[in-house]
Amino acid sequence: MLLADRHVLLTGATGTIGRRLTEQLVARGARVTVVARSAGPLDDLARRLGVRPLPADLTQASALEDVIARAEAGSGPVDAIVHNAAVETVGRLDELEPGDVERTVALNLTAPLALTRLVLPGMIARGHGHVVLVSSLAGVASFPGLAVYGATKAGLTHAAAGLRLELRRTGVGTTVAELGPVESAMMDRARRHSAAGGSFARVYRLRALRDLDPGVVAAAVLDAVEAGRPVVRLPRRAAPLAAVAGLPRQLVRGVLAGMPAQGSAPARSVDPAPGPAA
Ligand SMILES: NC(=O)c1ccc[n+]([C@@H]2O[C@H](COP(=O)([O-])OP(=O)(O)OC[C@H]3O[C@@H](n4cnc5c(N)ncnc54)[C@H](OP(=O)(O)O)[C@@H]3O)[C@@H](O)[C@H]2O)c1
Repeated sequence: MLLADRHVLLTGATGTIGRRLTEQLVARGARVTVVARSAGPLDDLARRLGVRPLPADLTQASALEDVIARAEAGSGPVDAIVHNAAVETVGRLDELEPGDVERTVALNLTAPLALTRLVLPGMIARGHGHVVLVSSLAGVASFPGLAVYGATKAGLTHAAAGLRLELRRTGVGTTVAELGPVESAMMDRARRHSAAGGSFARVYRLRALRDLDPGVVAAAVLDAVEAGRPVVRLPRRAAPLAAVAGLPRQLVRGVLAGMPAQGSAPARSVDPAPGPAA
């Protein structure tokens, strides 16, 4: 889907990758609504780039409907949604603070799926739309100190594969970005943790990973949206590993390829009517 004049809702717009995504979305002619908690950095983006700021805490389930309602009241139906906000909770599970697990799952996994659920009916009815899930190689390979974060990212990667099947022939595309380390505050925090930092140091010594430039990442993600590519894997040297991890999902896609697309009517999940007593 070409982004020019499309309304794009971007979460985590004030972070390292989010700022680059915002700049490049504007450069491609999109109308952008930007979400994060802190109003100040959002207002800076709005002043500098002419985007529409929408401060919200996405860990609050009760705020999500309001986010979509306010975004659509301001700039019309959401044509594309980019789920980029996340928290990298670093530490062994037994070291984490109360609430860390819940907050991480709420922001990294629940919010993207819940927001997507809210925008999909409109996208399907209009016959076009795009959903971008920013995942991580930490959801493909496991690192000590990143079990919770990695679990949320693995969840996103898996959900993207299911969504792609559900949305066949609706005109709504999906892109999942499985990213390695990006030069960022998020990565600095991971490196400071003894277990996570030690593992990364070893992987870097083996040249299995290298730091990515956030501008290059943003360009690759938006190119994929415009080209309708479902997966972005960076850095390229780690892509084969991620592709192998995705093989069962790929296999299922192949097996189901000949099936008719699902209807857009919501699936019924009620219990079957009780039959005659035995
Ligand atoms: N950095 C890496 O090395 C790396 C590697 C692989 C994948 N990724 C993924 O790339 C994406 C962006 O990473 P990044 O490094 O750019 O992140 P970042 O710099 O830490 O930025 C996080 C963004 O999310 C927002 N945010 C945090 N908590 C929020 C909440 N409760 N509600 C709404 N917004 C919230 C932050 O703004 P406020 O604090 O103002 O809310 C900020 O805009 C993430 O999905 C991350 O998992 C990053």
